[in-house]
Amino acid sequence: MRIGSIINGVERNEATRETMEVYDPYNQEKVTELALAETADLEEAVESCYDAFHSVMNRMPAHERSDILRKAADLLEERTEEFAQTIVEEAGKPITFSRGEIERSVQVLRFASEHAKHITGEVLPMDAAVGGENRMGIVKRRPLGVVGAITPFNFPLNLSLHKIAPAIAAGNTIVYKPAEKTPVSAYKLVRLFQEAGLPDGVLNLLLGTGKDVGSPLVEHDKVHKITFTGSLPVGRDIRQNAGFKKVTLELGSNSPNLVFADADLQVAVKELVRGAFAFSGQVCISAQRVYVQKSIYETFLKAYVAQTEALKTGDPHNEDTDIGPMINEDEAKRAKTWIDDAKEKGAVIETGGERIGTTLTPTIMTNVQDNMKIIAEEVFAPIVSVIPFETEEEAIHAANDSIYGLQAGVFTKDIDRAMRVADQLETGGVWINEISTYRQDNHPYGGVKQSGMGREGVKYAIDDMTEMKFIGIKLHHDK
Ligand code: SIN
Repeated sequence: MRIGSIINGVERNEATRETMEVYDPYNQEKVTELALAETADLEEAVESCYDAFHSVMNRMPAHERSDILRKAADLLEERTEEFAQTIVEEAGKPITFSRGEIERSVQVLRFASEHAKHITGEVLPMDAAVGGENRMGIVKRRPLGVVGAITPFNFPLNLSLHKIAPAIAAGNTIVYKPAEKTPVSAYKLVRLFQEAGLPDGVLNLLLGTGKDVGSPLVEHDKVHKITFTGSLPVGRDIRQNAGFKKVTLELGSNSPNLVFADADLQVAVKELVRGAFAFSGQVCISAQRVYVQKSIYETFLKAYVAQTEALKTGDPHNEDTDIGPMINEDEAKRAKTWIDDAKEKGAVIETGGERIGTTLTPTIMTNVQDNMKIIAEEVFAPIVSVIPFETEEEAIHAANDSIYGLQAGVFTKDIDRAMRVADQLETGGVWINEISTYRQDNHPYGGVKQSGMGREGVKYAIDDMTEMKFIGIKLHHDK
């Protein structure tokens, strides 16, 4: 298979183009070859989106936008297995998790289809101001224009849809640059939207590198917003180079989870195994730091290690695999280096810590220090640290001692404590009696501090993809 960018409905796949190969992270079989986009394609993609915005989307009624999104949801639901297998092949995500991603993606499309019909504004009481009599003020929400969507490999379909679906619901057009490691689901998604009736030029796909197409997209004057999910360094560059564009950044995290002595221990252990190791920890809100109150620390750790060792590591194509490969060998090696570095500084590996090719065994570390990379930085790997604490204040302080602040988990049966702690945690979201890793696609999702800015979660992304427009009317009642 060889795929190329899609601009104004036409695939750019000429034999003369430079190519990049994509391999299955587990068995290293070739998945596809990309015909790479170049800077000239970027220009065309933006121009075509710009034209499609003015000639099509800016005028398309809400019910039509809603219909297209609903049709896309239905088509995707019908093709769940095909899309899930694609994600297994290109991302190495275990099949049961890949199916879960499709199920979520269908819901995102359905939420967007519903919200497309409910983008409302307000009528202002203009006579609240002296001299405002006989005036009417209307605040409408209008689409922005061209949105640049830059997406990661870890949820190649769902995190793309968290950008594309609200953009369409709001009436924007999109230049879509997916991760080079996971282009096939992106390509299929754009084809699926064509089938659902999205006019050509509304969603243009660029399969190219960050340097050739990502950076010029961020800097382009005819792009009105950049929405990005990915790493902190790239997010920082985007913020610096985006000029006056609106920017939504969903960046990294080293998510804390606090387990108090009164928590339901069985639930906390079971959920935190999933929370730390789902998709080999390659999730922005993966449970990375688990703080456990001292009186239950030993009991928690013993059960945590036992349940982690029961996970099945292996081929992501198999139905019973819990832990598959990381995205590539470089990433697995990088994560292993971080484990070794922590060990040298005195950390203890309670279980795991072994790399076999692209697979890293699920790893629990203890005796960790704040200056270790596995604590201070985003590990994005199946590595979790368990840390004892004595008091509530100490746990909150440790959890907040981070440059990141995306999502946190708190396990306790005391509702007063839960709400007190939730208010004090410096994160965009907090789950009580649930892992930091849990995300539902209709709640606001986004970070504080260096975890980013702006919010996704369909309704909130639509807010960020529209602009308020004030229209004032002077009434002449007396005539
Ligand atoms: C992320 O990794 O930022 C997304 C997590 C999710 O959508 O579950």
